[in-house]
Amino acid sequence: MNFNYESLISESCKNIPRSFIREILEIAEHPDFISFAGGLPNPAYFPLEQMNKAFQKVMENDGREALQYSGSQGFLPLREFICKRYNSLYATKMCPQNIIITNGSQQALDMLGKLFINQEDPLILEKPSYLGAIQAFSAYLPDFHQVHLTENGIDLNELEDVITKTNARILYGIPNFQNPSGISYSEETRKELAILLEWHGIIFIEDDPYNEIRFEGTPLPPVFSHLPEQVIWCGSFSKMIAPGIRTGWMCAPDELIPKLLRIKQASDLQSNNLIQRVIFRFLNDNEPEEHLQKVKSAYKKQKDTMIKAIREFFPEGSVHTNPEGGMFIWLTLPDGFDTEKVIEKSLQKKVAFVPGKSFFTAEGGSRNMRLNFSNASEEIIMEGMKRLGETIKEFAPDKFVKV
Ligand SMILES: Cc1ncc(COP(=O)(O)O)c(C=O)c1O
Repeated sequence: MNFNYESLISESCKNIPRSFIREILEIAEHPDFISFAGGLPNPAYFPLEQMNKAFQKVMENDGREALQYSGSQGFLPLREFICKRYNSLYATKMCPQNIIITNGSQQALDMLGKLFINQEDPLILEKPSYLGAIQAFSAYLPDFHQVHLTENGIDLNELEDVITKTNARILYGIPNFQNPSGISYSEETRKELAILLEWHGIIFIEDDPYNEIRFEGTPLPPVFSHLPEQVIWCGSFSKMIAPGIRTGWMCAPDELIPKLLRIKQASDLQSNNLIQRVIFRFLNDNEPEEHLQKVKSAYKKQKDTMIKAIREFFPEGSVHTNPEGGMFIWLTLPDGFDTEKVIEKSLQKKVAFVPGKSFFTAEGGSRNMRLNFSNASEEIIMEGMKRLGETIKEFAPDKFVKV
């Protein structure tokens, strides 16, 4: 007889929404499947050789230290590297004692949820927002409020209204090449947001895993650079190097560091000591720009190909974003379509995407799809988008008559 666990499961666990993306990833693993669903970097550009060399060097030179337990805050030279790199890129003033190395930036989100959210606390997210953040924060049972994105980033008027109505104190957002929309905040939005945050006493969780993958336009300083005392800036090596290394970081004000370290200790004691040293070796012995240039120029071509395919194969009236970096295009089908119905059919044609509803905490997203362009060659993108267009056409052939 099976044990009945249901009565033992916490409300916190029950509140975490299912990840449609992870479920699709399992189906889409078959080799003949074309998946635009996952948020996967392209493995063709993982720096295998250089990481292998870095690994060997660490094992040969510092193997015993690398295999030992270490401090919870993370490997100091790696924290110093992060500060040096971003202080010079964005004129920020980060110090290593404000950085905590995390198990991917995903862990930073969970830690910040644990730090800030009590049950039913209002929490503001962008609309749509990153599903992984919705999952991480859901475990702390907040009262979510989503604020629309314009083409220049979060809608500041709507944000101010929501702050006033809810008394929320925490905002979570992704100013660069947002997941899922690909939208970036303009420089003006960043500056005005910082003023608004300061005025209303709001903490901003600035999630920034894609900032190294800008393939068009001018790099913009993070919101953190305008208001370091009220912004927690989260970064990641997942897109810059590879996600399997599961290493990210956050930069938080002095006062929060001891509290976050207690949370980190309670959760996993420390991030992987060996891999932190390997990452540091890799970054020191190689020119990160050289590696990033290859990734960025490939992703730009893939993004352009996907947009060309949308114009060729998708119905009249489809609207899409045109990101300057990152890995996703957000597409809105004309009235009358339902992307949850489309996915059922497209899976039969062996092509996957993520229906928009996954990125909303309440209603919304039924005509949207998130399309990942980083993890497929241009040829595969054309083929997959053609199949997807044909699937959509089955629902409303009249919408395909081009004028
Ligand atoms: C917006 C956003 N934040 C955080 C993460 C998690 O990244 P990491 O691999 O650093 O945990 C992702 C991953 O796709 C993401 O898109």
